[in-house]
Amino acid sequence: MKKKVLVARRSPAAVIERLAAHFEVDAVPDDRVLPPDELRARLQGKAGAYITGTERITAELLDACPELRAVCTMSVGYNHIDLAACTARGVLVTNTPDVLTETTADFGFALLMTTARRMSEGERLLRDGGWKSWAWDFLAGAEVHGTTLGILGMGRIGQAIARRGRFGFGMQVVYHNRSRLAADTEAELGARYLAKDELLRQADHLVLVLPYSAEAHHCIGAAEIALMKPTATLVNIARGGIVDEDALAAALRERRIAAAGLDVFEGEPRVNPALLTLPNVVLTPHIASATLPTRQAMALLAADNLVAALTGATPPTPLNPQVLSA
Ligand code: 8YV
Repeated sequence: MKKKVLVARRSPAAVIERLAAHFEVDAVPDDRVLPPDELRARLQGKAGAYITGTERITAELLDACPELRAVCTMSVGYNHIDLAACTARGVLVTNTPDVLTETTADFGFALLMTTARRMSEGERLLRDGGWKSWAWDFLAGAEVHGTTLGILGMGRIGQAIARRGRFGFGMQVVYHNRSRLAADTEAELGARYLAKDELLRQADHLVLVLPYSAEAHHCIGAAEIALMKPTATLVNIARGGIVDEDALAAALRERRIAAAGLDVFEGEPRVNPALLTLPNVVLTPHIASATLPTRQAMALLAADNLVAALTGATPPTPLNPQVLSA
């Protein structure tokens, strides 16, 4: 008898084919997020779940689905999964690191450029018929090349952004991270470690790339924004909950910082209405990893993880490998 797996969202055909070679696949055909009750019902009798960043895996859900052995998310972030609860119940969890690093860094840098150089504002003005003449300071933005790039969260994606800043744009790179990088990595990136407050003070452009956790919740709020330069830009490609959006909106409105570029939002796809009317914020709908090749690579890596997890092989990118040896 083939094991049963759930694919919780519409996914590439290649994913379904790969899984169907080993398992009986129950594939949700549409793009809606299954409400928790429906997810629980669809997971009954399933040994594995292929999910994305929108399906929440809680201890309560795991208890209601005792046959579940593997949860494979097509995302690098895993704050939607209670990892400790999975580990305690012997449920293997995997994510999709590496395959999205460069693509996400490209987008992070593009968002920084768009924000600093006021491109969205300019396009809106042009489309609305507001481009009447030239003026010396017309849509004049902030300099990018040669300025100080601050990175909060110096993991794989943070480092890839640092390379773009340092080698592409001649920027000075400063960073803060839970743990400091090895000296040779710092030297290779030309990156200088700073305490968080000092990072906020020195950055001309601050990019948030840290993982979301209880500790990271609203770790950029009014007090932190108050340390930033009035000319600074803030870019968030990590998770919405890292930033106190009301505090950010107030700071942008009062020009206490110059601009922000946000790809992620607390409570997305809902966007805090305070942000929607501000001219100096660029808003994108969580698309930093969205190129077809990268999304396909993420999807196939998640499928490979699920196949390995349920066939006794070693999954490529486990988050709780201790479950395998237990
Ligand atoms: C995804 C992401 O778009 O990988 C992540 O953690 O935030 C994005 O790449 C999304 O979560 C896909 O499941």
